[in-house]
Amino acid sequence: MTWAPHVTATALLLPVAGLLAAADAVPALPDGPDLTLVKRVCTGCHALDTVTAMRHSPDEWDAEVAKMVDRGAPATEAEQAQISAYLAKNLPTKPAP
Ligand code: HEC
Repeated sequence: MTWAPHVTATALLLPVAGLLAAADAVPALPDGPDLTLVKRVCTGCHALDTVTAMRHSPDEWDAEVAKMVDRGAPATEAEQAQISAYLAKNLPTKPAP
């Protein structure tokens, strides 16, 4: 049998590239009903990336989501609270170094 290092390298790298691509598509936000809600309410005017690029404290996410609802994001008060809690949990301000 012939040792074929390039084949081995490709086999090892492809899954990693796939993981990176998947992580890039929806960074940080775990799947589930909360993500479905965010996709429904928060992608009417801009990409989900606009949301996932941000890091905020819970208060800041409350204000951010309220601002978007003022602009016309279609969420009830309960959905608004659900979204800001979910975003605050998954897109928190980075702790100070
Ligand atoms: C009615 C339209 C609309 C909807 C729906 C909407 N947004 Fe926005 N959003 C905007 C506009 C306009 C901007 C500013 C321009 C841009 O970045 O595209 C913006 C920008 C943002 C930004 C970047 C920071 C900023 O304040 O400019 C974040 C974060 C954001 N939106 C979060 C959300 C979240 C979370 C939701 C769902 C609750 C949401 N948006 C739904 C209109 C909307």
